[in-house]
Amino acid sequence: MENPDSLNRLQRQDFIKIVDGKQVDLFTLKNQHGAEVAITNYGAKIVSLVVPGKRKRIVDVVLGKNSIDEYLNDQEPYFGAVCGRTANRIAKGYFRLDGKEYHLAINNGPNNLHGGYKGFNAVVWDARQIDSKTLELSYLSPDGEEGYPGNLSVTVTYTLTEENELKINYQATTDKATLVNLTNHSYFNLKGEGNKSIRYTQLEINADYYLPTNDVSIPLGLPELVEDTPFDFREIRPILMQIDFEHTQLIFGNGYDHTYILRKGGDGLNFCAKAYDYESGVIMEVFTTEPSVHFYTGNFLDGSFIAKNGHRYPRRSAFCLETQHFPDSIHHPDYPTTVLKPGETFRSETVYKFSLPKRFKTGEENSLYRKDNISHNL
Ligand code: BGC
Repeated sequence: MENPDSLNRLQRQDFIKIVDGKQVDLFTLKNQHGAEVAITNYGAKIVSLVVPGKRKRIVDVVLGKNSIDEYLNDQEPYFGAVCGRTANRIAKGYFRLDGKEYHLAINNGPNNLHGGYKGFNAVVWDARQIDSKTLELSYLSPDGEEGYPGNLSVTVTYTLTEENELKINYQATTDKATLVNLTNHSYFNLKGEGNKSIRYTQLEINADYYLPTNDVSIPLGLPELVEDTPFDFREIRPILMQIDFEHTQLIFGNGYDHTYILRKGGDGLNFCAKAYDYESGVIMEVFTTEPSVHFYTGNFLDGSFIAKNGHRYPRRSAFCLETQHFPDSIHHPDYPTTVLKPGETFRSETVYKFSLPKRFKTGEENSLYRKDNISHNL
């Protein structure tokens, strides 16, 4: 059961359990270039994502837990999970579709969050490991589950490439009009999970606009320009540099907890964001077919429980880049629709690509990535 070749310290047997009558397990994808990802079919969660760091270090860049029993515990149920049917919030957990009213769980203040009490993060998916680099997870969400209409058939495929990319492909079909908005909710710390801060991480987001919200994180409606606000990540800069600025939106969100509208590119994958950690050297680039990314700085983490490798995760010790459609779209006819109808296929793809800084011919690191540049900005 133990995997002596594995780059992480997880034990597969700690994930083997029958949950809701279905087999839970841990699956490992590995390439020839030093990357490895471990995924459990409970919640389709990424448990560990190991990539090469500078000076031949290996870095596990995602927060996680040690065993299925720890995941079954309620403490932060979204680490690495696929969120659905509707990632993020639906105001008051209520919507009308095709003339009928639907009521969802109210599980976050007055709203519905991440699909309800038992969203896709808390169900057991059927797993099929296609080869050493591909895992296919499927789930049939029955009509009425968590209050949503229609039998929804969902497949999420994780693929690790030799270019150190983790690709996530989502596909869904339904037999009744329903809502679908899927994302992966990995919490990243590019210095390595368990490090107490993301202070030396820099971030760029390919967006001119974001969605301001009310005090319970529901978008107000119209997008606003990021220019001249602490929400401007159009040029790479330290992620926490302006997080404590006196700005109503940062007060409402307890930090960044906002959706960015990505600049329009072509029909396929578009550049979404880039993050870089000086200390580990890890660069993460994100590409997606989704129209937006929800940027969240782990504002509600509080270090109250022991997680992977004996680590605690304090406030803002990680960040999430949740590619998705806009929150609460069903109440905003001008937002891209999240309604899926029978006969249609929902398709979405997001790629997280990991690399190290390239050196110039002179041997100098690109000045963008030098520590003096970062501390100057801090
Ligand atoms: C939400 C946060 C929430 C977090 C839970 C994010 O997508 O926007 O408000 O606390 O998920 O992990």
